[in-house]
Amino acid sequence: MSLPASARIDIERFWATIERSAEIGTGRPGGLSRLALSDSDKEMRDVFVGWCREAGLSVRIDAIGNIFARRPGLDDSLPPVVMGSHLDTQVNGGRFDGIAGVLGGLEVIRALDAAGHRTRRPLELVNWTNEEGSRFSPPMVGSGCFTGVYTLDWARERRDDDGKSMGEELDRIGYTGETQTAPPPLDSYFEFHIEQGPILDREGFQVGVVTGGFASTGMIVEFRGETAHTGPWPMEKRRNALAAGARLLTAVDDLGWEFAGSGGKATAARLVAWPNKAGIISDWAQVTCDVRHADPEAGAVMAERMLRAAHEAGARANCEVAILDSWRWGGKVFAEEMIGLVRETALGRGYSTRDILSQAGHDAYFLARHTPSAMIFAPCKNGITHNNNELCTREDLAPGLDVLLRAVVARADR
Ligand code: GLV
Ligand code: MN
Ligand code: MN
Ligand code: MN
Repeated sequence: MSLPASARIDIERFWATIERSAEIGTGRPGGLSRLALSDSDKEMRDVFVGWCREAGLSVRIDAIGNIFARRPGLDDSLPPVVMGSHLDTQVNGGRFDGIAGVLGGLEVIRALDAAGHRTRRPLELVNWTNEEGSRFSPPMVGSGCFTGVYTLDWARERRDDDGKSMGEELDRIGYTGETQTAPPPLDSYFEFHIEQGPILDREGFQVGVVTGGFASTGMIVEFRGETAHTGPWPMEKRRNALAAGARLLTAVDDLGWEFAGSGGKATAARLVAWPNKAGIISDWAQVTCDVRHADPEAGAVMAERMLRAAHEAGARANCEVAILDSWRWGGKVFAEEMIGLVRETALGRGYSTRDILSQAGHDAYFLARHTPSAMIFAPCKNGITHNNNELCTREDLAPGLDVLLRAVVARADR
């Protein structure tokens, strides 16, 4: 049975879920601080699970707290077509980053229910745990565990600034589910997301067909020195870990400016030190930094330069240097057949459509290692994101959601 002509996204129904979500874990006006596995993340998860159950979906939680909600297919033995994104936010993040993808997937399922259409293949909707990496580093831990990029034991040991582990927090909020041995076979994965950059909005495109991602490398660098008095202690004996961290921070920033002409980005987003008090030299510092470039070769050069800068910063401040974690994503990850399906669907619906690279990290990068995957971008005002002023209108999101609905059905009914 083909998709009935009456099948359509109900943007008001979708919007009501966005507005309910925006009440949970509020931050600065208009924004959200719903950090992974916090009380507000639990509250949002509970609301989401309730909506899924109301829609007749069966809900399963895995051991890292990813939530899977399943709608059976006519042939339920076939691997599912999956939609997903994340419901956690940054500190003072927006109301749409990630959330639009999860609640958009829910709206697709509600639209199919309203139209009385059951797809041949089952559908699954996923909320991935800790996409942001704001509370627990690195980002995309849930999708990374699902696809075998990270092990469960390692992921459960990620700790926040108060020393609480992901494992303890999952147990505390009641979202430690069943352990998965290997990722189950999937038919495909779709992620709808706001662009988080200014291109679609500036150029007036309704739909972004994501062809891949900036080649991105991130790392956490630790410097170890020695505490001492900031006065009498001789300069030549000093091992100031905070100074090493600061040197790396400015070196990474300089790298960003050096590559800015070709669109490269480099950021040291976090510098912490201990004891970080007046009158005493810090003996410990940690820097989290990343470099990103559209051209994988330039991205590799930037990554190499960032690593060298870490060792130079440590040497200059007489500190030991350790790379605690590093991660890499991006490139041409998405399957051509999936990119083509999204593009043809968008053009077939008459939307102004543009190919685009993602510059942010997304769960879809990890899913793409396991199953044919695609991303659909929607414009957001001035590209503002990770900020309480992140803003999308119904008109910004409706075309992309319509493409999600139709591309998912095309894939699930074949
Ligand atoms: C995560 O989304 C990142 O791009 O760092
Ligand atoms: Mn996101
Ligand atoms: Mn984000
Ligand atoms: Mn992200």
